[in-house]
Amino acid sequence: MAAAMVLGAGAALAEPQAEVLHWWTSGGEAKSVQVLMDEFASRGGTWTDMPVAGGGGDAAMTALRARVLSGNAPTAVQLKGPAIQEWYEEGVLANINAVAMANNWDELLPEAIADHMKCDGEYCAAPVNVHRVNWIWGNAQVLADAGLEMPTTWAEFNAAAETLQGMGITPLAHGGQSWQDATVFESIAVGLGGADFFRAALIDLDEAALTSDTMIAVFDQLRILRGFVDDDFSGRDWNLATAMVMNGEAAFQIMGDWAKGEFMAAGLVPGKDFLCAPTPGGGYLYNVDSFAMFSVEGQDNIDGQNLLAELIMGENFQEVFNLNKGSIPARLDVPLDAFDYCAGRSGYDMDVASGNGSLLPSYAHGMALRGAQAGAITDTVTAFFNSDMSSADAVTALALAVKNSM
Ligand code: GAL
Repeated sequence: MAAAMVLGAGAALAEPQAEVLHWWTSGGEAKSVQVLMDEFASRGGTWTDMPVAGGGGDAAMTALRARVLSGNAPTAVQLKGPAIQEWYEEGVLANINAVAMANNWDELLPEAIADHMKCDGEYCAAPVNVHRVNWIWGNAQVLADAGLEMPTTWAEFNAAAETLQGMGITPLAHGGQSWQDATVFESIAVGLGGADFFRAALIDLDEAALTSDTMIAVFDQLRILRGFVDDDFSGRDWNLATAMVMNGEAAFQIMGDWAKGEFMAAGLVPGKDFLCAPTPGGGYLYNVDSFAMFSVEGQDNIDGQNLLAELIMGENFQEVFNLNKGSIPARLDVPLDAFDYCAGRSGYDMDVASGNGSLLPSYAHGMALRGAQAGAITDTVTAFFNSDMSSADAVTALALAVKNSM
C-alpha cells in the first residue's frame, strides 16, 4: 500500500515540462509559436521559453551548441534538415518513435519530409510546416500606382525595379545578413539555372556546375539586385525589410513565406494589400521547420517531449499554426480551404514540382547541406554582395570555399 501511495503521489506530481529553444521572435513568428504554447498549457504542460532572436536561426544554433557543450541541453529545439542528423551523430538526441508510430506519422507525411525527421530509421524530430523559400512579395498599391504587375522573368523584375527607382521608391527591401543574401542567391540559382543545375551546384556541389557560365549569370543577377537595395540595408532584420514593403517605402522583397506571416500579423490582406508570386523561373525550394528532442533526464521532461511531439503533428495545430506562420501544413491530410491564395499556390506548385523533379531542399535554410558546406557557400555569396567582386572571381572563390569545407 505504501508503494501504491508513493506511485500515486509520483503520478500526480509528474507534469509535462519542456524548455523550448527557438528563434521565432518576429510578429508573425511569435503569434505562431504561441499556438503551440497554448496547446501545451491546455494539456497541463509547463513551457519554459528560450527564444533566441535572429532570423534564419544562426544565433539560436550558436546558443544551442553552448548549451549542449555545457551538458545542459534544452528539451526541445527548433532544428531542421541535415542539422538533425549532425546532432544525432553527437549522440545527444532523444527518440520519439513511439509517439510517431502511435499517431501514424508515416502515413500522414510525405516520404521526403518523414526522412528528414528520422535518425537511423526512427523519428527524432517532428515537422510543423512546409515553407517555400523562393517568393517575391509586393506592395499592391505601389505596384498599381507604377502600372506594374508582379514580374514573371528576371528581365521583367529588373525593368520594373528601374521604373520604381525612377519614382523614388526602393525597388527591393533587403536586410544585409548573410542568410538573407543566401535566400536571394538560391532563388536566382533555381530560376535561372533550373532544377538540374540547382541540384548539381548546391546539393551535389559539383565543381563544374559551381564554376559554370550559369553560375556566373546567377552572380550577375545578384549584382544587379544589389543595385536595387537602399543604402541602409546592412544588418537589417528580414522583418524590418518586410515592413518597408508594408508601408510602401519599398516595392518588393524576395523572402520565404514567413514574410506572409508578418504581413498577416499586421492585418494586411493577401491579394489586396500585398501580392505574392514565385521568383522567376520556378522550381520549389522547400524549408521544413521541425523540433528535435534532446536527451534529458526526468519523467516530466520526457512526458513534455512526447506531448510536444503529439501536439505538433496534431491536425488542429498544423492548421492554426500554419495560418499564422505563412507556411502550409506538413501533414498531407489537412485541407487548405481556410488558407489564402498564396498558400493555395504553394500547395499546388509543390505537387507539380514533386511530379517534375523540381521540388528541391533549400540550401540557404539548412535543408540541403551540412553546416560546413552551406556556410562556405553563404560566406562567398555575402562577400560578393558586399564588395565589387566580379562574377568570374565569385565562382572561383565559391568552388574553392566548397572544396576547403569538405
Ligand atoms: C527560417 C525558418 C522560418 C523563419 C525564418 C526567419 O529559417 O525556417 O521558420 O521564421 O527562418 O526567421
